[in-house]
Amino acid sequence: MTTSSCNIEVQNITQVFRGPAARSAGGKFTAVDDVSFNLTSDPPGITSLVGQSGSGKSTIARIILGLQKPTQGSVTYRGKDIYRLSRQEYDVYRREVQPVFQDPYGIFNPFYRVDRVFWTAIKKFQLASTRQQGLARIEESLHAVDLRPEDVLNRYPHQISGGQRQRIMLARVHLLQPKFIIADEPISMLDAAVRVLFLNILLDFQQKYCMSTLFITHDLSTAYYVGGNILVMSQGQIVERGNVDDVLTHPTHAYTQMLLSSIPVPDPDARWQEKADVALVEDAPSAVELPDIEVLG
Ligand SMILES: Nc1ncnc2c1ncn2[C@@H]1O[C@H](COP(=O)(O)OP(=O)(O)OP(=O)(O)O)[C@@H](O)[C@H]1O
Ligand SMILES: [Mg+2]
Repeated sequence: MTTSSCNIEVQNITQVFRGPAARSAGGKFTAVDDVSFNLTSDPPGITSLVGQSGSGKSTIARIILGLQKPTQGSVTYRGKDIYRLSRQEYDVYRREVQPVFQDPYGIFNPFYRVDRVFWTAIKKFQLASTRQQGLARIEESLHAVDLRPEDVLNRYPHQISGGQRQRIMLARVHLLQPKFIIADEPISMLDAAVRVLFLNILLDFQQKYCMSTLFITHDLSTAYYVGGNILVMSQGQIVERGNVDDVLTHPTHAYTQMLLSSIPVPDPDARWQEKADVALVEDAPSAVELPDIEVLG
């Protein structure tokens, strides 16, 4: 793989589905419609992909992760089409672009202890030469996401909480040190305190390890909290994009305005922006201030 700048360039991707679910003429349904954007790693940043259910967000994530070839268009990494990489180049891509999904429970095998998630990664990517070295790396990665090894190692997935499972996926990301994280609704199943903790870990990874994130959410306030850029999707198309502060303060597209106005606010006279400032930025505890959150599983 070349050493050219490692951006992920999504170029004019279109995804057409066929079958009974297809709702337009000819049994075809365009889930993603001519979408283009870049994710840059230098400088690292967070890009939120926001839109209502069914707007095509997860389809884009799957295409970027190499799980589904688009009907048209391309995704390039380091200047190469990811669907035309050699086996060796694809292995590099699979390491440098890591997924975090909504429901980590579905990813864990219930018959194996959670440790296996780490050992599989260590083995696959040859991250340690001895068991002791491997264990030291696992413990370091668990500490990086505020988990105590003794609380989670040697346990089965059902013996730890949803928040712990999701943070184990972040610890796996820490172990692999990818350049990009593709996070598809990673916090929608977590409670409010663990959500903030999770988001702060993502921000921490960006600053400390230069990891960039595509953060998929249907929640504008979360996008506002993580900052960076935002892509607003509606019916398979990106209808608005830019710096998250600008877009949410001065939305130009009717769809973004509608999404903003649909955020419930306790005081009808108050602007959402002010509420978001208070609720998410000033009051939000940082990861450092939340050392040992006990989450009920
Ligand atoms: N394999 C498939 N075959 C047919 N239709 C599909 C397939 N995958 C997704 N779709 C359809 O494509 C559209 C976009 O789906 P997608 O999962 O990308 O939406 P989303 O924005 O992630 O929604 P959500 O917020 O609910 O997760 C939906 O209408 C979905 O039903
Ligand atoms: Mg989805």
